Amino acid sequence: MLIDGHGREVNYLRVSVTERCNFRCQYCMPETPFSWAPKENLLSFDELFKFIKIAIDQGVNKIRITGGEPLLRENLDYFIKLIHDYKPSIDLALTTNGFLLPESAQRLKDAGLKRLNISLDSLKPAVAAQIAQKNVLAKVLSGIEKALEVGLKVKINMVPLKGINDSEILDILEYARQRDIRVRFIEYMENSHASSEIQGMHGREILELVKKRYTIHKIGRQESSPSFNYEIEENGYIFGLIDPHKHDFCEDCNRIRLTAEGHLIPCLYFDEAQSIAEAVKSNDIDKAAAILGNVLENKPKENRWGNDEDENDSNRAFYQTGG
Ligand code: 5AD
Ligand code: SF4
Repeated sequence: MLIDGHGREVNYLRVSVTERCNFRCQYCMPETPFSWAPKENLLSFDELFKFIKIAIDQGVNKIRITGGEPLLRENLDYFIKLIHDYKPSIDLALTTNGFLLPESAQRLKDAGLKRLNISLDSLKPAVAAQIAQKNVLAKVLSGIEKALEVGLKVKINMVPLKGINDSEILDILEYARQRDIRVRFIEYMENSHASSEIQGMHGREILELVKKRYTIHKIGRQESSPSFNYEIEENGYIFGLIDPHKHDFCEDCNRIRLTAEGHLIPCLYFDEAQSIAEAVKSNDIDKAAAILGNVLENKPKENRWGNDEDENDSNRAFYQTGG
């Protein structure tokens, strides 16, 4: 079992396989980054897997593959199969913008992937194009259908932005409800890479909008999920709200992050990270395990968000840490 310096059990590893993306979402990377991490700095899937085996052996039972856009990385199904075959019972999930799913969903499922989180910020082509800065909606929607068709479990993520897609909160909720999939509304998290033009919505503003049509009841969080769930009285549908401005989910935070370059990051809004790249490249498993232990020992108590001294903005972008 992996226990951090604050006594929390860590069983969840998020692995970012690339920071590149085929979208330019306003809240994430509106500009193409000045420089990407050079390709040669990326760890290969076999190298990443060396670390993942250690993590699994020590108690990680949930792995999420993220990016950037993870489906841009070639042979991703090979990586998924490595992890799945090592421990078939592992809860293996992936977060994607959905654009490449129509052609890859079946392969992902066959490789052993179980669950997908897909971003869907609008059901209007022009609004989706405004947010992602690309005409994406048709492919994303067919990607969602394809994922459901091949039997992957799907959740939808929406980031409501004032004056852009806030009028669609109920429409996205209906879209998800009709397909019997969970939607989670995510509060926009300010970061220095995002567009300065956008303004997020507060969790309570999002709830107010839903309450205009429905009566909702608080359910609570499931295990260590950052999502707080609500049930709609009229139809029993359950949706989630992710409110990172609160620190309440840090208390039982169960996760650490590994980037494509091999940086092991203890918390989204902390800049302390240690690299396992050299250790896995030289096959020094003991060293990689020691780094894992050290990062866990120094995992911060709560995210840096909202701490006065650094005014919320993290320099590390979502596409670098995988959200
Ligand atoms: N604030 C909130 N959510 C974000 N995401 C990316 N950037 C941000 C941000 N600044 C979300 C996307 C996607 C997931 C990977 O992270 O909506 O669903
Ligand atoms: Fe790409 Fe996801 Fe960032 Fe949008 S939020 S630019 S899809 S990584």
